[in-house]
Amino acid sequence: MHVLGLCGSLRRDSLNRRLLAAAARSLPDGVTLEPSDHVAALPLFDEDLEVEPLPEAVSRFHAAVLATDAILVASPEYNGSLTGPLKNALDWASRPGGDAVLQGTPLAVVGASPSRFGAAWAQAETRRIADRIGARVVPLELAVANAPDAFTAAGDLRDPDLAGATAPAHRCPGGSGERAHQRG
Ligand SMILES: Cc1cc2nc3c(=O)[nH]c(=O)nc-3n(C[C@H](O)[C@H](O)[C@H](O)COP(=O)(O)O)c2cc1C
Repeated sequence: MHVLGLCGSLRRDSLNRRLLAAAARSLPDGVTLEPSDHVAALPLFDEDLEVEPLPEAVSRFHAAVLATDAILVASPEYNGSLTGPLKNALDWASRPGGDAVLQGTPLAVVGASPSRFGAAWAQAETRRIADRIGARVVPLELAVANAPDAFTAAGDLRDPDLAGATAPAHRCPGGSGERAHQRG
């Protein structure tokens, strides 16, 4: 099973990118996670760009979403919500209109923050938007609080309970092998 990792932060030393990397190392056999650069590469959503040929970054992103078995999002919280780049990626994933590439894809959301809340509001908002688009959202939260102190020098999560739960996407019913949503 293949999981596509999307990071809501563009920051080089992003705690959420570290969280995706930690998740990639803690997956069960047979599950792979590829942290990707799609969120950073996408242009700002503009309906005027929705003409053939689509911008290359959009075509690559759409192809990656259609090809993956599941998505794991790790995002910071900005002002009580998800980040602009992540919302932009979700808007692109909601297209084409009426046939969103994200529709039917198992999707889980995790988050890290220096605060004691672990980006919980951003996660809730991301789940709500992904659900609205038609993703098969995994109904669980993984909030990494006090994130600058949450990782070992090797990049693993110190808390064993969190470490065991970092890649919940493969737990989504229908997300444990073949993607349920097949497009013709
Ligand atoms: C514009 C902005 C708004 C922020 N708002 C919040 C917030 O609402 N809640 C929170 O926990 N942290 C907030 N933060 C702090 C981020 O959680 C922190 O910068 C975090 O390290 C960003 O994630 P990253 O390390 O993956 O880039 C905000 C940071 C910025 C730059």
